[in-house]
Amino acid sequence: MSQDWAIENFLEIKNNQLYIDGVSAVDLANEHGTPLFVFSEKRIRHNIGRLKRAGDFIDCRLKICYAAKAMSTMGILKAVKDAGSDIEVNSGGELWKALTIGFRGDQIIFNGTSKEIWEIEKAVNAGIYAIQVDSVVELAMIEETARRLNKRANVSLRLVPEIESSTHSGLQTALLTSKFGMMPAEAHAAFREYKDSPHLNLAGIHLHIGSQNPSAAGYADALQVLFHNLLAIFNETGIKLSHINLGGGFPVNYLRDRSVEGSFPDEEREMFAADFEPADAISNAWDVIKRSAESANAAELLKDITLLLEPGRSIIADAGVCLTSVRNIKTRPLPGSSLAPGHSSVDHWLLTDAGFNLLLSTATYNWYYQLVSAERAEVGHDFPYKLAGPLCDGGDVYFDIEGLGRLPEHRLLPKDVELGEILALLNCGAYSMSQASQYNARFLPPIVLIRDSGHPELVRTRDTFRDLAANDIY
Ligand SMILES: Cc1ncc(COP(=O)(O)O)c(C=O)c1O
Repeated sequence: MSQDWAIENFLEIKNNQLYIDGVSAVDLANEHGTPLFVFSEKRIRHNIGRLKRAGDFIDCRLKICYAAKAMSTMGILKAVKDAGSDIEVNSGGELWKALTIGFRGDQIIFNGTSKEIWEIEKAVNAGIYAIQVDSVVELAMIEETARRLNKRANVSLRLVPEIESSTHSGLQTALLTSKFGMMPAEAHAAFREYKDSPHLNLAGIHLHIGSQNPSAAGYADALQVLFHNLLAIFNETGIKLSHINLGGGFPVNYLRDRSVEGSFPDEEREMFAADFEPADAISNAWDVIKRSAESANAAELLKDITLLLEPGRSIIADAGVCLTSVRNIKTRPLPGSSLAPGHSSVDHWLLTDAGFNLLLSTATYNWYYQLVSAERAEVGHDFPYKLAGPLCDGGDVYFDIEGLGRLPEHRLLPKDVELGEILALLNCGAYSMSQASQYNARFLPPIVLIRDSGHPELVRTRDTFRDLAANDIY
């Protein structure tokens, strides 16, 4: 039996087991223990290639800057770099990681709402491609820092485009009510004020409409906003910007298994099952602004410009799988069991070793990760279980604990799951390990990266007792 989640030459079933890039998930779990994250270098390369195809449909240079916050373990950053992507960082720590891995300054852009002086100094000293400026106050800080260092900082001003995406409210970043960026009028005033500063290279403008955006149309709206501002800045100051940055947010289809679609409300389903080609979205958006530029007699402004994208999720989410073991099993009578005849009057609970300390989005955003038995991948997944993690926290569950219907009540797996059975949570690569914590003094897990060659390589070891108290003084 083939399964909807299978992807040829990547996620496959052999001998009833899940194979990742030709390597048995069960063998990896047995060798390294669980929980265990497994990443595919081939898939990372494939995803970056897919995004780069957008470059074939535009008349300017395309620069892909991987959003490091999605996953910034050093071995993964190296794989991203080797696959030909530049990088977007969000803190002095991520900047340090990027430089340590070997990204050149001109491959790095730096976002963030609350940058500290040491972070700005580090960015200016590294001569990065752009510090993305969140406010007028921050721009003054950057100018002052660059002046003190006798350097010139490349900057790009982040705009509030007021574009609503139908993604999760916590993933919206372009609304007036969100915390990011400055109003276009403030940005224009800043361009006027600093246009002659020898310490600032006012290179670009930036926006980001949100993460896991279900609709491609948002990118055309966003690029239009960038073009109108580009034109206004040129008209007001004579500055011809060298780049525009459209942000990230390209979606990943978390609902490849269509059999569970009916368990989601329409809006959640639309978001989790979002699926469009980034190249199509960009090609369409570019056609729109090209027409705008021609009718405004401003085609020159798009000549020699560079279009930046900052994708995180679409590069790393489906390249990562979390393997977890069933550590406890129990049945529990259903509350007020007045079920129709033929239905079970008990819930079957499976308690695994991967909780929201590793997959924070399950608790914060009710995120959905498809679950597969790695040992019985070919068998029908049609028996309902209540699935929960190991944390001493009632919210550490993989179902709809709120009772708001945003997630399925149960997870489907083969009947008679046994203690120790190895399960795989798919599409787990983004915003998982990068947000993970040692809550309940749990060890952060190891990470295996399956190389292009098919060789599995450990790129992170499991925490030890020492790591649990590494910085504690006692
Ligand atoms: C400014 C910025 N750029 C890029 C990203 C990456 O988004 P995604 O991982 O959805 O591509 C984010 C995340 O929300 C962001 O805030």
